[in-house]
Amino acid sequence: MTDGLRMPPDLMRELAAYVTEILVERSRRLPDEPAWDGEFQQELTARLMEEPPESGRPPREVIDRAVRDVLSTTMRHDHPKAFGFVPSAPTWPGVLADYLVTGFNVNAATWLSASGPSQLEAVVIDWFRRWLGYPETAGGVLTSGGSAAALDAFVAARDAAGHPARGTVYMSDQSHSAQKRAARVIGIRPDRVRVLPTDADFRLSVDALASAVEADRDAGCTPVAVCADAGSTSTGTVDPLDAIADYCEAHGIWLHVDAAYGGFAAVTEPGARLLRGIERADSIGLDPHKWFFQPYDTGCLLVRDATALERAFAIHHDVLQDSVWGANHPNQADRGLQLSRRDRALKIWMSVQIFGMAAFRAAVRQGIERAERAARYVAESPVLELMTPASLGILCFRVNPGEGAGDEREIHRLNRQVLARVFWEDRAFLSSTLLHRRFALRMCVINHTTTWDDVRETLETIERFGREARAAS
Ligand SMILES: Cc1ncc(COP(=O)(O)O)c(C=O)c1O
Repeated sequence: MTDGLRMPPDLMRELAAYVTEILVERSRRLPDEPAWDGEFQQELTARLMEEPPESGRPPREVIDRAVRDVLSTTMRHDHPKAFGFVPSAPTWPGVLADYLVTGFNVNAATWLSASGPSQLEAVVIDWFRRWLGYPETAGGVLTSGGSAAALDAFVAARDAAGHPARGTVYMSDQSHSAQKRAARVIGIRPDRVRVLPTDADFRLSVDALASAVEADRDAGCTPVAVCADAGSTSTGTVDPLDAIADYCEAHGIWLHVDAAYGGFAAVTEPGARLLRGIERADSIGLDPHKWFFQPYDTGCLLVRDATALERAFAIHHDVLQDSVWGANHPNQADRGLQLSRRDRALKIWMSVQIFGMAAFRAAVRQGIERAERAARYVAESPVLELMTPASLGILCFRVNPGEGAGDEREIHRLNRQVLARVFWEDRAFLSSTLLHRRFALRMCVINHTTTWDDVRETLETIERFGREARAAS
């Protein structure tokens, strides 16, 4: 049946059709399943830890086992009631594009190894550039996600700052841990990563930034980068980008905007309004695997001056000398960490070609509007209270203690109980956050398959659990 590591065409077709059927059925049944499934390690070790077989097993049996024992015990980020963290619901053309790319075995490292995919990456990056209002000098690279985008951005920023021995990086207490990790990886000592307190609206204050930079410069440190958030993960808040850009420009500091969560709001009119000023950043991190409905892992780093990336990353290697095609034939490997890299552009391009931008714009706008509607529901609820206004598809709220008005610890306990019940008893998946140390339930409603009923039913469930928890306390 198999021949060494090869399969005959009929078997290839049969297995591909079998896998396709599994995926289509999964997608059809998804709303009736819980948004989360998982297992404790002891159980999974018993199921999976074994020596590899010396002889091959029947392919369908292996596929069935993979689906049952491995793939099913995961969070369903694309479930219509997956509201925790950042949901991700890839389009089917995006999934098919990943299959094609893998089947064609593309290595999108250089123009020589992948000229078509390299050009397509340029096309997709040019779309992003225009949506964000960047100039024609801008360029970028597709990455594994927002973490890799931040890392590549900080490498370029450190290069632009002249590799200072006592470098510092600035961000807010709302910035994603990925930014801190990226700073650490480029060698910024943890005690020189300045995590600045945000104001009552969870925004980075320019005054706090200016004081920190001034104190650091007086102490002989050199700022490498300021990181501003365009859609912080907790609250969807956007930092005052214009004011921060003014400050960074005046003081010659690289501004990186982490738009991994919120960046694609730029394709809508309300989103573009909120993100105004983003086009003044030196670099922007974006995640198509979040709000542009692509399969993992698909991130992007855009830089205002495309040559900044090549200055930081391009390194000659004799064994790769044949892959230099010269001007206008970029080697994407010269713009970031990875040499061998999968093609990430095809999925974006194919899904936009097949659905059109109007459908993408509508899907993003729907996430923004749905969060606003959910916030109105929460504001009118006798059981819930809104903790942050809806912003870019996210809202934070909690069960209020009602008549029994408890202290913060009591409210925290009450809401943890409610969250645990949603987790174990409901099909929805919700996560929590801390807002200036206050516990909050958090809903992120950007999945394009989520309906208002999915959101409303979940809020009603939380209200019911909230009432019961209050009564029991
Ligand atoms: C605002 C923000 N930045 C960065 C990241 C990290 O991105 P990734 O997981 O794609 O590396 C996330 C992930 O949720 C995020 O929300």
